[in-house]
Parts: sequence; C-alpha cells; structure tokens
Amino acid sequence: MKDKLNILAFKKMKEKGEKIVMVTAYDYTGGLLAEQAAVDVILVGDSLGMTMLGYDSTVPVTMDEMVHHMRAVRRGAPKTMCIVDMPYMSYEISVEEAIRNGGRLIKEGFADAVKVEGGISRVPVVEVMVKAGVPVMGHLGLTPQTADQLGGYKVQGRDQDAAREMVKDAMALQEAGAFGIVLECVPQGLAQEITAGLTVPTIGIGAGVNCDGQVLVYHDLLGLYQRLKPKFVKQYADLGDQVREALEQYGREVKSGVFPGEEHSF
Ligand code: KIV
Repeated sequence: MKDKLNILAFKKMKEKGEKIVMVTAYDYTGGLLAEQAAVDVILVGDSLGMTMLGYDSTVPVTMDEMVHHMRAVRRGAPKTMCIVDMPYMSYEISVEEAIRNGGRLIKEGFADAVKVEGGISRVPVVEVMVKAGVPVMGHLGLTPQTADQLGGYKVQGRDQDAAREMVKDAMALQEAGAFGIVLECVPQGLAQEITAGLTVPTIGIGAGVNCDGQVLVYHDLLGLYQRLKPKFVKQYADLGDQVREALEQYGREVKSGVFPGEEHSF
C-alpha cells in the first residue's frame, strides 16, 4: 500500500510529471474500494447530491450531508488523501462562515482538504482558509453549483475573453494559496495553457489529456448513474445493469423457492 499523499507530495507529482488519479467516493464501501485500487486522491464531491441523494443538482446539498458522507469515506479509506466539496452557500456568505464550515469538514469529517468553486471572487475565502490551516483546492470552468448562471451544463471558456478570464482566475487562486485546481468542461487547449502556467496541479474532467491529473465521478465510471451521460465520461464497467439483473434473479429465486437452498440453511 502506498503512503498517504500529503499536499507537498501532491504538488511534487506535477514537478515529476506523474499523473494524478482522482475519483469521487461517497460512502464506506466506495472509499474502501478506491483505496484498495490505490487511487491517489478521493474527492467526496457534492455530486453525491445527485448520485446518492437523488436531488436534481448539487445546490440542495447541506453541510451536515457532506460531513456525514466524508466521515463514511474516511472509515473506508484511512490512508488516502480525501478532499471534500464545500456545499453551495457554505463559503459564499462570509469568510468567517467559510472558515467555520471548512474547519468542520476537517475536524468532524476527517477530510484532508476542501474544494470550493469559482475564480477571483473566491480569493479572500481561499486566503483566509489557507492561513487558518484549511488546505483548499479550486474548481474552474463548469462549476455545477452555479451552472444556471453559466447557461447550463456546457463547455466553458470557448471564446477569447472567457478563456483569458479563466487563466486569470487560475493564477489568482494559486496566488491565494490553492494547492490545486479542478478544470471541468474546458477546451483542451485552454486547459493545457492553464496547466503550463501554474506550479500547482490541475485535475481535469472534460478538460483533455494535458491536465496534471484526471477525476471521474464514481457512479459515472462504473455505470451506476444512468440519468446523464456526459461526453467526457469513459464508462469502465456496467454495474447498474449487473445490479438490476442480480436483484431480478434474487426476486425470481425467492418467488420460486430456489433461494434459500440447503447450503444457506441451518
Ligand atoms: O462534485 C464532484 O463530483 C465534482 C467533480 C465533478 C469534480 O466536483
């Protein structure tokens, strides 16, 4: 088993040109499997609002829900770096609330770091949290918590002005102390430019191969969440279909008396 990654080692991976593997996980079993698979970093993403809680977006997710899921993942993955999303409106109202909520995710949730969405407007919050001892990762491009303001779930930074703004946002987050930045749904040329201009790693999702690492949503890569299938997802397994078939077979066997057999009985 590899040593648990810390913030310094995470940044060093970029210097060494070693790609960073990140996946989301939301519960004990997911954390355990991700750790057994030796991923570098687990993201307890607020995408859990959709994949685990059945909301239509990440907006309704609460601090209590994030703490609850983060704690469960940590029990499954005690030796893996875990970053947790700060949910919508847990860091926007004031820097004091941001520190209180970020601190709670570290102290009660046992996270190693938090992630916030947004660019230059997040600089004060990132600076203050980092000074208070809460490591922060940024998130640019398609930011799902404010997707409505961006015109929906679509590629960001396509025109020159938007691209220039994103480059500035990335630099500002790095200067504020962010130790890495997620780039979501960004044209690959722009992601490459941002990645080359930063000393901290970028983690791409729908941002091409030139980012320093990649992240995918657990349910997407395993074929467990079938409501949406973005172009950037590569599905490595078809667990949704397998689970449904297994449950159907179980149902048939109970109805017909095939299960339980002699070997399952006392
Ligand atoms: O919530 C999440 O899963 C995320 C990833 C899509 C990066 O933020």
